[in-house]
Amino acid sequence: MTRPWLGELFRALLSVGAGGAVGMVLGRPLEGLLAGLALYTLRHVYHLAALYRWFRQRRKSPLPAAHGVWGEVFHHIDRLQQRNKKRKKKLTQYLKRFQQSTEAMPDATVVLDESGAIEWFNSAAGRLLGLAHPHDVGQRIGNLVRHPDFLSYVREGSEEEAVEFDSPQDAETRLSLRIINYGKNKRLLIARDVTLLHRLETIRRDFVANVSHELKTPLTVITGYVEAMMDAEGEYPHHWQRSLGTMQQQAARMARLLEDLLLLSRLETTDIAEADHETVYVPAMVASMEEDARLVCGERLTIVVEADPTLRIRGSGEELRSAFSNLVQNAVRYTADAGTVTVRWFADEAGAHFQVADTGIGIPPQHLSRLTERFYRVDKGRSADLGGTGLGLAIVKHVLNRHEASLTIDSEPGVGSTFTCSFPPERVERTAAGEAGTPSLYIASSQ
Ligand SMILES: Nc1ncnc2c1ncn2[C@@H]1O[C@H](COP(=O)(O)OP(=O)(O)OP(=O)(O)O)[C@@H](O)[C@H]1O
Ligand SMILES: [Mg+2]
Repeated sequence: MTRPWLGELFRALLSVGAGGAVGMVLGRPLEGLLAGLALYTLRHVYHLAALYRWFRQRRKSPLPAAHGVWGEVFHHIDRLQQRNKKRKKKLTQYLKRFQQSTEAMPDATVVLDESGAIEWFNSAAGRLLGLAHPHDVGQRIGNLVRHPDFLSYVREGSEEEAVEFDSPQDAETRLSLRIINYGKNKRLLIARDVTLLHRLETIRRDFVANVSHELKTPLTVITGYVEAMMDAEGEYPHHWQRSLGTMQQQAARMARLLEDLLLLSRLETTDIAEADHETVYVPAMVASMEEDARLVCGERLTIVVEADPTLRIRGSGEELRSAFSNLVQNAVRYTADAGTVTVRWFADEAGAHFQVADTGIGIPPQHLSRLTERFYRVDKGRSADLGGTGLGLAIVKHVLNRHEASLTIDSEPGVGSTFTCSFPPERVERTAAGEAGTPSLYIASSQ
């Protein structure tokens, strides 16, 4: 038994013993004993009342002095309280520092709970997103920021990607917004002002589009003169014919480049119009691409086509043709003689897929992530020799983005490459035959 408890036992025995002794002197020992016990109990009640009072006063005054077990209890409570005070002070300091730093941040920061309700936000969030203290705290962010791109991002956006839209406060301000999950079902929304970057990007896009457009007319004039000179064979020295031929070839390449640049800038600057949501007869498109490919490669390659004839898609026929034909052209271009190019058009539960597989030179893995950048070519010399400009896959990526589709590239150097464009099931359309039963397969193969 510890010292305070021994002391307490001594105090109890003393109270009861003293009561009993006084009782005996007065000839009433039992009453004496009971009086001693009552006195001892009264002391405990007194200290309990003191503790209760102290709690009621919200622990502002110091605890009263006490001896024995009560002294020990009061001492421990006091120590606990001091420790809590210190911890609270530290936490308040941390919180203050965090709030001061997020306040100073130029980016809007909003803490959301699992239902998307606002728990806290900094002043930049007020400025950029139009949130106001204190009545917006507890409101759902989707009720306050109503931009459709933002709403669909909040619903299904991924953590890696950011969404861009105009600030609800000022249409001139462009925001880039991300939501990051943290802690237990908490979400942090961060919005950055990217107006300057956006403006620069617009200037760059306009510049490329304008230059491409301006170059078209002079190029047409040059091509026209070169053709006229080639036609007038007798009038120029014979050795000029070769130079004129090269000039014509290069002019044609430049015209292709300008066409691609103009198409890219059109894809970047315009929204996919309602009119572009037409039914695209991909099987017919595949058949005509197969014909074109055969004209280019002749007997050089085996071309296999497997297309589900009942499978169609909603989108822009013109854009999809240019994306698909680039993939087929690439396969033909980067496959050595006696190779095979397989074009497939099929559907599964994930949606519809346009796939081009070849047994060509393949692509080393370090290049795969950069292939869809403009002018990116694995082997610049080889690609240029084959007439490539490096804009094809950039166009493919943009077209697919506009159709909520994705591009997967699978490749092994020396073995071959497979490019797959996957469209979501919402875009898939079937003819009656497809709806009724299993689709028949259109298979063509030739050498
Ligand atoms: N099927 C393929 N096999 C091997 N390499 C490929 C294949 N497809 C594309 N590549 C590589 O990716 C690069 C980019 O392709 P992309 O279609 O963008 O450009 P390009 O074919 O060179 O030119 P463009 O399509 O503008 O005429 C190519 O230069 C080539 O190095
Ligand atoms: Mg290409």
